[in-house]
Amino acid sequence: MSTDLHTGFDEQQYPHINKGLDGIVAFSTTKSFIDGAIGELIYAGYSIDTLAENATFEEVCFLLWNDRLPNSEELAALQAELIKERNLPEVVLNYLTSTDKEAEPMAVLQSAVSMLADFDPTKGKFDSELFMSQAISITAKIPSIIASFDRYRHGKEVIAPLDSGSTAFNFLYMLNGEEPGTQAEKTMDLCLILHAEHGMNASTFTARTVCATMSDIYSSATAAIGALKGPLHGGANTAVMKTLLELEKEGKDADAVAFTKKKLANKEKIMGFGHRVYKTFDPRGRHLQKMAKALSEETGHEELYRWSMDMLNTMKSEKNIDPNVDFFSATVYYSIGIQPDLYTCIFTMSRISGWTGHFMEQAANNRLIRPRALYVGEKNLPWVSVDER
Ligand code: SDX
Repeated sequence: MSTDLHTGFDEQQYPHINKGLDGIVAFSTTKSFIDGAIGELIYAGYSIDTLAENATFEEVCFLLWNDRLPNSEELAALQAELIKERNLPEVVLNYLTSTDKEAEPMAVLQSAVSMLADFDPTKGKFDSELFMSQAISITAKIPSIIASFDRYRHGKEVIAPLDSGSTAFNFLYMLNGEEPGTQAEKTMDLCLILHAEHGMNASTFTARTVCATMSDIYSSATAAIGALKGPLHGGANTAVMKTLLELEKEGKDADAVAFTKKKLANKEKIMGFGHRVYKTFDPRGRHLQKMAKALSEETGHEELYRWSMDMLNTMKSEKNIDPNVDFFSATVYYSIGIQPDLYTCIFTMSRISGWTGHFMEQAANNRLIRPRALYVGEKNLPWVSVDER
């Protein structure tokens, strides 16, 4: 049995490393419950199906921040607060309209969210009385950040936020320069609900880790954005669209089955499929699949849905792997005219509600998050001077 003299670390006590913390339960939470075997997702007591059919994104924000749904006065107050907080500090707007137009939208979003801390007079105070108003402010500002940069990079006039309307309505208005139709607003609102919260995913774990050092909510959100950006996580939706557009190059009769099998044969990961927890169809995907079918037909892009189903059936038969939340969201966003490199920004616009909900939960019962690592390197080597190495 070997024991590390420095730390009294007995390797026999830790013979197995859970790579990727697979299966490790590190927290208790009231924010969400996932049953990966049956494909169940609950946000603070309400199933994702109940919320998808009845709630608005603003009600889901309140639910994740308070562990209960708002009454009508509370909902009206939250909506008013979110509207009031949509405006960006001038310095942030100046950054968004002067940075490199070719910059990656998620990188610009991450920088802009980080800058918001400069304009919060309470910055540096780790005070639970402040977290709710900070969560509201960041949630309200992210849509304005995304839309303002996108308008600027396309040489269009930046549009000021509305002083009315839902988060979804205002975002589409600021992005497109015209008021969205009811269907487009409902589609965006439902996408925001479906992406809001998902337990201990990589970006939420990141958000909690930053909170646990008693840093600040802006740093927590900025770090989480960095984690979400990766193609194995939130970046997958943009990667899914790239895959579908690759198929499109082969024409409307492209063979998505052969395309998928070839990628698998090359040991490539097919973006939008697989999940660390779900071992069946992601329940969020069901709602997105319905929207993708309807919207792709409405917009004359039914081949996107046909290819998606061919890929889905091939992944199931070849690898017994199901689609995750990112797979059909790509077709939905494409069908409502959103540019693929904005898809993960939209994921962020929604998940900020879950991240900040977890931030408040972590802060309320905090302990520094600090796992161990099994040292497998050399020990006690003799010093060799540089001219002898
Ligand atoms: C999100 O955690 C969350 O909750 C995340 C999320 C949320 O709401 O926050 O749900 C959002 O991030 C969804 C996931 C988006 N990512 C992708 O679509 C990228 C593609 N998917 C894979 O990279 C993968 O499925 C992960 C990263 C999502 C999960 O990976 P795991 O749990 O580490 O599983 P693994 O990579 O060890 O794969 C197990 C097996 C492997 O086969 P073998 O090598 O054992 O033969 O399944 C295969 C993998 O090769 N596999 C895939 C695959 N996913 C898994 N093979 C091809 N294509 C895939 N997509």
